[in-house]
Amino acid sequence: MHAGMNQPTSAVTVIGAGTMGSALAGALLAAGHAVTVWNRTAARAQPLADAGATVAGELEEAIASSETIVTCVASPAVVDELVGQPAALRSLTGRTLVQLTTGRPAEIRRGAGFARDHGIDYLGGAIMAHPRTVGTAEAVLLFGGDEAVFESRRPLLGALGTLRFLGADPGGPTAMDAALIAFFYGAISGFLHGARLTRAEGIDDETYLALAGPFLRDFIAGATADASARIVSGDTSDPQSSLETHLGGIDDLVVGTSRDAAIELSVMAAIRDEIGAAVRAGRGGQDIISLLDGSAGP
Ligand SMILES: NC(=O)c1ccc[n+]([C@@H]2O[C@H](COP(=O)([O-])OP(=O)(O)OC[C@H]3O[C@@H](n4cnc5c(N)ncnc54)[C@H](OP(=O)(O)O)[C@@H]3O)[C@@H](O)[C@H]2O)c1
Repeated sequence: MHAGMNQPTSAVTVIGAGTMGSALAGALLAAGHAVTVWNRTAARAQPLADAGATVAGELEEAIASSETIVTCVASPAVVDELVGQPAALRSLTGRTLVQLTTGRPAEIRRGAGFARDHGIDYLGGAIMAHPRTVGTAEAVLLFGGDEAVFESRRPLLGALGTLRFLGADPGGPTAMDAALIAFFYGAISGFLHGARLTRAEGIDDETYLALAGPFLRDFIAGATADASARIVSGDTSDPQSSLETHLGGIDDLVVGTSRDAAIELSVMAAIRDEIGAAVRAGRGGQDIISLLDGSAGP
């Protein structure tokens, strides 16, 4: 742990009091930590001041107040802009920057390199949670960077939720964020397509929803577990449902019914095309996880 230019007066500083930054600062306060907050629009930090936080007028003053600085603003470019200000950079040297703003892995790795070049300890992070769950075990936060730095901050950061350390790459958490959110968008898009389809077919929402919940829990969770085991083993042979069979399901049943019902079907058509390309490439007898190897084939 390094000593900063000024004697730290609080345990942690949060830069950014937007929806998520406020949730982070609130959870740290609730856990009994001394929290300093800086926000571009100072008025937005007033509820945190009312809850016991110190609101700093100047960015460098906020940074100098704590050994640990958490950033949670609109983008990595904003972090770069704030951290790059000469006075802020001087204050940050020798402290720990915990970067929780969402960004692409390359942007985060660049920021980590800049921090390293300026004597700043850096942890990259990703918040896999809604603001309302921050401060509970339900909120999962991923971290990457120097493990000793992470461990030294674990008692503090533990106030935010369930912590997972992914390894030395500071861009790792945001790469995992992208992976899990891709899973989310694919799943939610299919769920909404089903709702659109049943409405177009004159089935009431309640009937669809009553069946969709158990279908997610049993059929989709089971298929995901099966695919997980196959990803680990690498075995694409002897599938429950071959790509050839899937092609029938998505092309005739899903795309065909959607076309007949005259509803938007571009996402389903893209999935059909991916499976179709794999079948044409000779993988029709394989399990659906063989799409991982690229669907287009030779
Ligand atoms: N909300 C969620 O559900 C959620 C979940 C996971 C991760 N996150 C991530 O958390 C981060 C913050 O999201 P949020 O929901 O808190 O967004 P938000 O409510 O829109 O807050 C954005 C924050 O960025 C600040 N900001 C924007 N441009 C700035 C600039 N040029 N200079 C200085 N400050 C600037 C804003 O300050 P002002 O108040 O002055 O505008 C505000 O503090 C994002 O990376 C987001 O992806 C959010």
